[in-house]
Amino acid sequence: MEHIYKEKKKGAPLFILLHGTGGTETDLVSLAELLNPEYNVLGIRGNVQENGMNRYFKRHGEGQYDWKDFEFRGNELYEFIVEKSKEYDFRLEDAVLVGFSNGSNIAIQMILQNPDTFKKAALFAPLYPADVSEKQDFSDVDVFLSLGKGDPIVPESESTRVINLFKERGADVATAWVNGHNLTQEVALEAKNWLN
Ligand code: MLT
Repeated sequence: MEHIYKEKKKGAPLFILLHGTGGTETDLVSLAELLNPEYNVLGIRGNVQENGMNRYFKRHGEGQYDWKDFEFRGNELYEFIVEKSKEYDFRLEDAVLVGFSNGSNIAIQMILQNPDTFKKAALFAPLYPADVSEKQDFSDVDVFLSLGKGDPIVPESESTRVINLFKERGADVATAWVNGHNLTQEVALEAKNWLN
């Protein structure tokens, strides 16, 4: 997969940056700088195309996911990250998943599929429109969720579903609200406070 890796310091924690629909591996680099300039950075470009826009998994329409592809892509991305952790010599336990929109959604999928691996995530504008029957143990998971009031893509009931998905599994959940489907400077600073 197309990606960038920036090492600030050997052994420092690592941000794994996952962009929104139509983005690239560099979209969230300035967010990472703001969150913590000393963390190493792995930015990954989604390898699914929708009308020329990069995504991490297929969908049939807004909020209508191709669940089979979603599961496949979740595994594929996880395998890619494992491979990179060996190549660049970082520990998966030190990774903080940082996602916006489509990137947040694949991050949730990876956490659900690998609850023992990913422990920390800052997810902006997430949408995971399905009930999950498996009750993973997220008691070691720390998550910051930025949600939207009047978000045209994510109804508030769906934001609540994402909050509950983490809370019901025992995660430590911090929430912040913005207007719309946005990642604002203000909420980025809230995420920074949460992280540090
Ligand atoms: C998705 O498809 O992942 C979400 O609806 C948000 C988006 O990326 O547009």
